[in-house]
Amino acid sequence: MKRLLPLFLCIASAGFGQKFENVAPTPPMGWNSWNTFQAGINEALIEQTAEAMIANGMRDAGYVYVNLDDTWSAKERDANGDLAGDPVKFPHGMKALGDFLHARGFKFGIYNCAGSLTCAGFPGERGHEFQDARRYASWGVDYLKEDWCYTGTANAPETYRIMRDALREAGRPMVLSLCEWGQSRPWLWGGPVAELWRTTEDIYPSYNRVKQILDLQVGLAGYAGPGHWNDPDMLEVGNGSLTFAESRAHFSLWCMLAAPLIAGNDVRHMTPEVRDILTNREVIALDQDPLGREGFRFRVDSKNHVEIWAKELSGGEWGICLLNNGSTPAAYTVDWQDITFLSGQYYHLRDLWAKAPVGRTPALYTTTIAPHDVALLRLKPGY
Ligand code: GLA
Repeated sequence: MKRLLPLFLCIASAGFGQKFENVAPTPPMGWNSWNTFQAGINEALIEQTAEAMIANGMRDAGYVYVNLDDTWSAKERDANGDLAGDPVKFPHGMKALGDFLHARGFKFGIYNCAGSLTCAGFPGERGHEFQDARRYASWGVDYLKEDWCYTGTANAPETYRIMRDALREAGRPMVLSLCEWGQSRPWLWGGPVAELWRTTEDIYPSYNRVKQILDLQVGLAGYAGPGHWNDPDMLEVGNGSLTFAESRAHFSLWCMLAAPLIAGNDVRHMTPEVRDILTNREVIALDQDPLGREGFRFRVDSKNHVEIWAKELSGGEWGICLLNNGSTPAAYTVDWQDITFLSGQYYHLRDLWAKAPVGRTPALYTTTIAPHDVALLRLKPGY
């Protein structure tokens, strides 16, 4: 026992078994390279993206993480077994990229995998966790997305706890973003391990996929809160076949879910309409509300194809989102007496896309919602 005591003290003082506190009190916001660029990333693209996010108002609206996804690294570790950036894609190295981002008010995110290889076949972290965490810290990394390819029979909670401990020992606070696609129900064990965890397999830019992922969030709201978030995957706003209405519905619903808001489009070349979706501060405020409650699906009205989602906010306020999942316009009336959790209180209503007041309860609220679009309201107590 005497001989074990110093070992115990040493482990305890290194902070094993604890993630960093307060690195994500609200859902992280930023940009990630994967959804648009996959393997086509390089230093110039990332720097241009950061400059664009300053010019288009994204950084100041809260999108501070600039995250490299898979394919940033060299194909092999160096002679010391250390990771290095791809020398052709990132000629000035990863520390220089981190410095560039920090000098402009951003935080630096990177990607790797808990397995022996990343999903795209680059060196993974398995067996190198502590060495790699020290490397990331030396580059000034602030956010690590940790994927789950090539993990064989590894146990997800145990494996991810190793990376949590490695980051802790490296000493630089980082957001840890787990990406095991919801397979081992990370909402049950992820809270003490990481700041966020994917709940599903990958998103892609079609309304049907966005809706499938939305449906898979039902029942998970209670597992999220400040510092530990369900991640329904990165945003596809402005991408693929999503119409303007579908992009804004996707964005509204991710905000209702208190989802991490990680844009996945080419922000250097987006339309003003897409920019206005991503930078609507009143909608972002639903996501970033300090109470940290995830929204829930209150009702599905299958006759009209309208779903009602609700999110409790601080100060007794509520976000209410009506989604028209049908393919024709839906004329819809909300009788506030039916929204049982609001009873006993009067509210002023504000339409967050029109940025205008739209009445007060208990008067009925009537609107027409375009196909795959939303009506998004904020309710503030008052007569
Ligand atoms: C997995 C993840 C994606 C992306 C790719 C990269 O599929 O779920 O989000 O990171 O790997 O290879």
